[in-house]
Amino acid sequence: MKFDTPAGQNPIDQLKVVGKPTDRIDGKYKTTGTAPYAYERHDVVPNQAYGYVIGASIPKGRVRRIETAAAKAAPGVVAVVTTLDMPALGLGKMNVANLFGGDQIQHYHQAVAVVVAETFEEARAAAYLVKVDYAPEGGKFDLAAQAQAAKPVSGGSGEGSGGGAEDRHGDFEAAFAQAPVKLDETYTTPDESHAMMEPHATVAAWDGDKLTLWTSNQMIAWGKGSIAKILGIQPENVRVDSPYIGGGFGGKLFVRSDAVLAALGAKAAGRPVKLALTRPIIMNNTTHRPATIQRVRIGTTQDGHITAIAHESVSGNLPHGRPETAVDQTKLLYAGENRLTGMRLAQLDLPEGNSMRAPGEAPGLMALEMAMDEMAERLGLDPVAFRVRNDTQVDPGKPDRPFSQRNLVTCLKIGAEKFGWDRRNPKPGQVRDGHWLVGIGMAAGFRNNQLTKSGARVRLAGDGRVTVETDMTDIGTGSYTIIAQTAAEMMGLPLDKVVVKLGDSDFPVSSGSGGQWGANNSTSGVYAACVKLREAVAQKLGFNSADAVFADGQVRAGNRTVPLGEAAASGELTGEDSIEYGDLSKKAQQSTFAGHFVEVGVDVDTAEVRVRRMLAVCDAGRILNPKSARSQVIGGMTMGVGAALMEELAVDTKRGFFVNHDLAGYEVPVHADIPHQEVIFLDEADPQSSPMKAKGVGELGICGVGAAVANAVYNATGIRVRDYPITLDKIL
Ligand code: MOS
Repeated sequence: MKFDTPAGQNPIDQLKVVGKPTDRIDGKYKTTGTAPYAYERHDVVPNQAYGYVIGASIPKGRVRRIETAAAKAAPGVVAVVTTLDMPALGLGKMNVANLFGGDQIQHYHQAVAVVVAETFEEARAAAYLVKVDYAPEGGKFDLAAQAQAAKPVSGGSGEGSGGGAEDRHGDFEAAFAQAPVKLDETYTTPDESHAMMEPHATVAAWDGDKLTLWTSNQMIAWGKGSIAKILGIQPENVRVDSPYIGGGFGGKLFVRSDAVLAALGAKAAGRPVKLALTRPIIMNNTTHRPATIQRVRIGTTQDGHITAIAHESVSGNLPHGRPETAVDQTKLLYAGENRLTGMRLAQLDLPEGNSMRAPGEAPGLMALEMAMDEMAERLGLDPVAFRVRNDTQVDPGKPDRPFSQRNLVTCLKIGAEKFGWDRRNPKPGQVRDGHWLVGIGMAAGFRNNQLTKSGARVRLAGDGRVTVETDMTDIGTGSYTIIAQTAAEMMGLPLDKVVVKLGDSDFPVSSGSGGQWGANNSTSGVYAACVKLREAVAQKLGFNSADAVFADGQVRAGNRTVPLGEAAASGELTGEDSIEYGDLSKKAQQSTFAGHFVEVGVDVDTAEVRVRRMLAVCDAGRILNPKSARSQVIGGMTMGVGAALMEELAVDTKRGFFVNHDLAGYEVPVHADIPHQEVIFLDEADPQSSPMKAKGVGELGICGVGAAVANAVYNATGIRVRDYPITLDKIL
């Protein structure tokens, strides 16, 4: 189905099932431990051996020799495969560094060997007997030290954002020089780790030339293509199956070493191999969100109209690596005739930087929205009023291009009212509650809505049940449920008559889960397939498909009413299709918006920061399931608190690795860190986004939160910390 004109009325608009706050249909499996994650796929194939991955203990250089005799002779060992056994295997989709093969070490903990044994313990014990002889080389590990040498760069993260190296409109320098009120500040954000609950894990089995990977991956079709390319086999000989995923946040958008080494280990062992990357290896072996150094300049008139805005960001990566696109939102968020955005990329020999939840906008807004708070103060303007004053309903760089929908101002106004913003003391450091200094802060949130092809197949059985099959993934987001809701709405069925099967590369190719595009695109693919199935049903029953009404498990036309299942009485009926998009998103800018409000307490003695209240007001098109969408947003808000206050991969700039590579040293917020969170969704539907009229919301939840926390800390204390995370040592 080609979607190239705004959606009119369609069956989804009935909102009998879609739009309802429905419990996750997979929730009971997850909470009872019966949803098998990759490492728990004990029963998919017999005789599984265990793999243990060894990571390089140098950040850069060459592997001279690997001694495996002792490991091979150790109890239970079945096979040892080393990186010297084969040439460099090449890069899969979005991979920055080589995952295995050859003698070059590009980053610390890059995989150099896998040991396969009868048990995990035997594999691990034998791994310690493998001796690797390295020829180390010096490398560059310090972003600040390399920032001067960073080169202008375009393009962005693999999630589809990006643009030119430098984007200019008007004459920024002249307008900034003339502006009566201005700001020129630099903000830094650290390297961050996805730190998802489920580690990267794979069970691999060969059947002749055919490879099956039961794994944990957000993008099944990418994964299938990548593993084929990396291993030099035909894509049709690869099956990837990933029905349950314990979090990804971008860290599982692409094939990682667990999948490659499970496949190679299984080949060498002549039997299936199961392996997980252990927690201490994940932070350096896999990917992370790259650190940034961001300079923001804003010039306004006396009354707070932006006349000049510039945002420039430096980040680092390995060769082939992309920049963190931290300036993207600044192209679109506020008005202003004279604009400049630019990115520079430094070469670093740290582990590869790549997508992490809202790549670009998440750290970009941490800078921009703190700068907006500072600017409002200089102007003597309320931070909400300053943003409202600079709202734009068109792409400020291309004024003939409107937003499809943009209700940022409504988000900010509702948020201010519900949060009690008028009780904020604009003078910082004034409000005490016992030994806490109390402050409130806000920020705007922004994230684009990306449209991408997505397919599905729906099958109707004689008992009236509908089964949906698509390689879409559920990374903890609620895909199972919104897909079931979509099919139920389209076919006129209750939810319990719909079965959803996901994450298998044998199913039609979907959008996958990334860039907050999953919900809108994958359900639109299901919509398209259901349109086909409705046609097949009508034809089978001799109805004119335009007249047929699908409701209450029946199909009606004229004065005839037939149970839906009857259409499949003599054999299953199938509808299969993809949603494909025309250039609607070129004609109008599609984005999502939020107002984030945060109250913090800062201990007057220790400077410990506690978040006390949070509110997000979101404008993200139709909300398909307010319950799972809320969970997405509060998860994003929680991650935003982490980014603001605690998350940081500490770089050892001499030895070239992330020091705190486990969950003891890498701190993320836990329940006790997070107060009551409230989420309000504007009641919207965007007919330009898809037949579902929905947009992404999973990344919007994090966008802007970090700055809202930072601005609240400033309001509490009068201390402006521009170097994230805002740990207590920086406040004292
Ligand atoms: Mo992407 S960082 O998986 O949403």
